[in-house]
Amino acid sequence: MKLIVAVAKNWAIGHNGGLLFDLPDDMAFFRRTTLNKVVVMGRNTLLSFPGGKPLKNRTNIVLTTNTEFEAEGCTICHSFQELFEELKNYNSDDVFVIGGGKIYNELYPYCSEAYITKVDAVEDADTFLHNFDEDEEWYLSYASEVHENNGFKFIFNTYKNKSIKNLE
Ligand SMILES: NC(=O)c1ccc[n+]([C@@H]2O[C@H](COP(=O)([O-])OP(=O)(O)OC[C@H]3O[C@@H](n4cnc5c(N)ncnc54)[C@H](OP(=O)(O)O)[C@@H]3O)[C@@H](O)[C@H]2O)c1
Repeated sequence: MKLIVAVAKNWAIGHNGGLLFDLPDDMAFFRRTTLNKVVVMGRNTLLSFPGGKPLKNRTNIVLTTNTEFEAEGCTICHSFQELFEELKNYNSDDVFVIGGGKIYNELYPYCSEAYITKVDAVEDADTFLHNFDEDEEWYLSYASEVHENNGFKFIFNTYKNKSIKNLE
């Protein structure tokens, strides 16, 4: 399982239920990376998509504790136990955790890699990602050249996990 996210320099990822940046190159990277794969998200992230609709051409798995919640085109899981059972149906390299804050911060220890787009800006936010630079279990394995969209400079980083927790 892998994680994919865009963060500000202060590890901010969201505000008022929405994203912090509009970066076409990053959206293209996200789309290319997750297309025809499995995406795992929290209910808030699903609801942040246009019309609350799942991502096209991907298997969408949504976590919620609400047993009444239904979403067309999504597989719903009500606990990590249910999620991990469901994920046995897929190759773990094809599974991407796509947010938001709660889900990233609970599931990152189970991920082998994190694709982190780092934006050279400090943002006010209400949702933050775990700081991978300060986590000795993780190391930076790749950093791209600098990209720029809409006045924001950013790089694509890959971090690797030295001690992946097993999905049980
Ligand atoms: N920068 C990025 O790349 C990026 C990517 C995605 C999202 N975001 C941002 O992140 C923010 C949303 O993050 P968030 O932390 O508010 O919400 P979230 O992680 O998307 O969803 C949280 C919800 O997931 C469910 N959940 C969490 N853990 C669970 C568990 N163990 N079992 C069952 N259900 C569980 C709960 O739903 P119930 O309350 O229904 O039980 C919880 O309220 C938005 O601002 C969004 O734009 C940023």
